[in-house]
Amino acid sequence: MLKQWISTKEPYPVYVGSGLLSEAGNIFTEEFSELPKKTVVIISDSNVAPLYLHQAENSFRNIGCNVHTYEIPAGETSKNWALLGQALEHLAGLQITRSDCLVALGGGVVGDFTGFAASIYLRGIPFLQIPTTLLAAVDSSVGGKTAVDLKAGKNLAGTFWQPRAVLCDTDVFRTLSSEIFLDGVAESIKYGILRDQNLFADILNGGFQSRCASIVSRCISMKGEIVSEDEFDRGTRELLNLGHTFGHAIETCSHYQVTHGHAVAVGMHMAGIAAKRLGVCDPTCSGTITDALLQLGFHLECPYSPDDLYRVMLRDKKRKGNTIDLILPRSIGDCVIRPMPIADLLSCLQEQ
Ligand code: GLY
Repeated sequence: MLKQWISTKEPYPVYVGSGLLSEAGNIFTEEFSELPKKTVVIISDSNVAPLYLHQAENSFRNIGCNVHTYEIPAGETSKNWALLGQALEHLAGLQITRSDCLVALGGGVVGDFTGFAASIYLRGIPFLQIPTTLLAAVDSSVGGKTAVDLKAGKNLAGTFWQPRAVLCDTDVFRTLSSEIFLDGVAESIKYGILRDQNLFADILNGGFQSRCASIVSRCISMKGEIVSEDEFDRGTRELLNLGHTFGHAIETCSHYQVTHGHAVAVGMHMAGIAAKRLGVCDPTCSGTITDALLQLGFHLECPYSPDDLYRVMLRDKKRKGNTIDLILPRSIGDCVIRPMPIADLLSCLQEQ
């Protein structure tokens, strides 16, 4: 088992390894000694619950917790106010108190939803993350961003609320379809493009097949490094949005039929092209990113028009008045935050 610390204001451990789920209760107790006395509510979704809820429940019961479970429908559309309200009412009905704890067992939707519920229920109660997708393991389970979606776009209402600990059992990735696994590969190669050319090369050389836990752990460590520099997303953390400004627009245009990692992959390809056209990156960088994404199995054609993407991007969280921050590669392992005037955005999209 690999263990590392995320150095936010309240530091917390992340455990990564094979076969950890059935030991989750014990492992969490190592650093969260009050856990066995708590009532825990495990929130999961209709895809994950039939596969892993029983195992997770038992692991918390075995250490003495009083365990409840709560299931939401699988899919991004569950990140809405109505469902969040129902979950909060359910917690109140169970008389969950501030000394109890929520557990997110699932992918990014469950993690964002549970984290948001934990952050506002009784003005904040502890929660634990058990990500069951590669995407959630390397990104959303770490860093404390919680959210639901608004009609205007994804993750437009949320909080920063860090988990008490994160446990990632790499065995659970075996039940992911290759498409869903690829979602996480996109977020993982992103870290290589951002800060680590060795990680970039290792992922391309089959790292996920031969040493999955180590690659996951390196991605989490880089995310932890960036989050600890800028927990509340006021500067450096924006780097994590490489490919996301374009990617979120693609996801929104597709009504979430294009999944996050696939959209981010297209977005990273577009960011490479934009960096080349703007003279930001070295001459080979854009092609290297595109070739890598194709090699990993992504389809990089964007099915939406520049006008469609532009309309959605105007509502992006990263817009600041008359500019929008784009994250652009300079070379593999080095990216910059570049404010782009809104007036130039449409032509940037048209030049793709
Ligand atoms: N997923 C981007 C972040 O956590 O900041």
